[in-house]
Amino acid sequence: MKRLSIKLPLVLGACLLILMTQVSIAAGCPSKSKTEWLSFFKEEADKLGASTNYYNKEIASYAKKCIPTWNILGLGQCSKRIAIASEARYKTKTKGGSMGWEMSDKDYVNGIPKKLRTLPQELSDGLPENYREIAKNKGWKVFKYRSRTVPNPPRSSYNRVLLVVPGPEDDKYIQFTISDDLSKPNRPERLIDFISVEHNKNNPNKKAQVHFTQFWRNSSGKKPVDKIHGGDGYDSCYSCHPNGVRELSPEPGSYNKEDAKSLLEIKKMMSSYGEQEFNGALHREAWGAPKGSEQGCVKCHNNYQGKHLQSRGAINSRTSSMHVKHKMTQDFSMPVSSLNSEREIFELMDKIPYLLTESERLAFHKKMRKEDQNDKFQFAVDELFKLGKISEKEKSRYHLILKGHPDYPNCLGQPDCFMGIDKKYTQMASALDSNYAQSSKDYYFENCKEDNLVSGADDELQVDSSQRRSGVRGFIDRIFGVDNPTPQGSEQ
Ligand code: HEC
Ligand code: HEC
Repeated sequence: MKRLSIKLPLVLGACLLILMTQVSIAAGCPSKSKTEWLSFFKEEADKLGASTNYYNKEIASYAKKCIPTWNILGLGQCSKRIAIASEARYKTKTKGGSMGWEMSDKDYVNGIPKKLRTLPQELSDGLPENYREIAKNKGWKVFKYRSRTVPNPPRSSYNRVLLVVPGPEDDKYIQFTISDDLSKPNRPERLIDFISVEHNKNNPNKKAQVHFTQFWRNSSGKKPVDKIHGGDGYDSCYSCHPNGVRELSPEPGSYNKEDAKSLLEIKKMMSSYGEQEFNGALHREAWGAPKGSEQGCVKCHNNYQGKHLQSRGAINSRTSSMHVKHKMTQDFSMPVSSLNSEREIFELMDKIPYLLTESERLAFHKKMRKEDQNDKFQFAVDELFKLGKISEKEKSRYHLILKGHPDYPNCLGQPDCFMGIDKKYTQMASALDSNYAQSSKDYYFENCKEDNLVSGADDELQVDSSQRRSGVRGFIDRIFGVDNPTPQGSEQ
């Protein structure tokens, strides 16, 4: 008995010692050589690329401790995408709501400064009948149109009035769904979509921040209530707005001449913001490689990593694929054709409000509404011909651009041997997703490849975590900025 009682504390002590060592490793940065880190990152990159549901909570929690080590080993850039994706996915999976942010929907909305999510007083009871007059007096822009893309609840309406309210701190894009029933043009609708772009005109060092909110009106179209504060949820705006505000692609002929002018002004405003961020609610790197490298999309849709003037948020695993397909095979608006011949058809669509008198336009649009999405351009061409606005020769040319040469691809060598944007874009759209998992694996490992590694310390070096603050340290502020601010004051 006696002997046992001496041994027990010893055994307990040893156990405690083992336990403590393990705890301190879990809380700190594990000891690995450079080679071991690289193979660890390779494994993680493959898993992150294979499934967007995957994350390794460990990386998310110890990244902060490991950054100095990774930097000194020359693995700062290499680890960056992997660490950001791990942390962002972990937060999204554990906290995110219907909007798919890295925080709850409530925290997201409450984090938007109130003045950036409050409807202007003039619109606080819905869309007033004299909205055009108000807009004119206040210097707002109005665009009334029919969407080609999104049917809004409760009655699947495509009709919209967009009011754009420019301001010194933010521009507000307030979009009212309106009646889509020609026989009841004043029937109340309920949804209001609201984007405030906190621009950086007075603060060029800050990137523009986009804030999304959504309101629901009562059955008389009045008393809008913020959907989240009303106990409901929002849609996942990011799935169709990967860049923040996005251009409108109205049904051809659905807007008048006066609004055609506003459309141009609104487009100009939308493209004036430079990089748009989501106010810390989402890190684009978390959701896979930018899609469409073989289709040329990544030239522009590159998460602002490229040099193209039109660089913008990437199309990735979170982008609604139905939506991307629509943009390509029905809107024909992507991938921004660089062929003059193909552009002619878009120019024709833009000219419709000018080619037609107002009563012609209304009659034209009444028929256009009934056309199948895929046939709207062709219908417009034929109708403009019937109305005497384009010649027979022009009509055939537009058909050729849309549908291609009848003998394609056997026409090679003959003039106008086009495939036609209809077929061409459909082929491109179906190729867009092929090999996406592989491109994402490559994307996460890209900066770990030998050619891309900056030279670092010796392979076996172990680094003391107190050596913070080096080159790529900035990214850790971004990953952990909100919940675990990095200690300040030790800057050299
Ligand atoms: C299913 C895709 C989809 C979803 C989801 C979506 N939008 Fe949009 N939104 C669009 C499209 C497409 C346009 C451009 C208008 C058009 O051509 O129909 C647009 C336009 C807008 C506009 C007009 C300004 C602009 O950027 O063009 C606002 C405001 C807006 N959306 C707000 C929101 C908000 C807020 C959410 C989330 C609560 C949201 N949207 C979710 C597809 C979507
Ligand atoms: C030359 C630059 C460029 C290329 C190449 C390009 N895009 Fe775009 N894309 C844009 C611009 C600018 C917009 C905003 C205007 C608009 O919505 O039409 C946009 C908008 C979009 C949107 C709506 C979401 C958003 O970012 O606002 C989708 C989806 C899209 N593009 C898909 C594609 C796909 C798929 C490809 C390749 C097949 C492609 N794009 C190629 C410039 C480009």
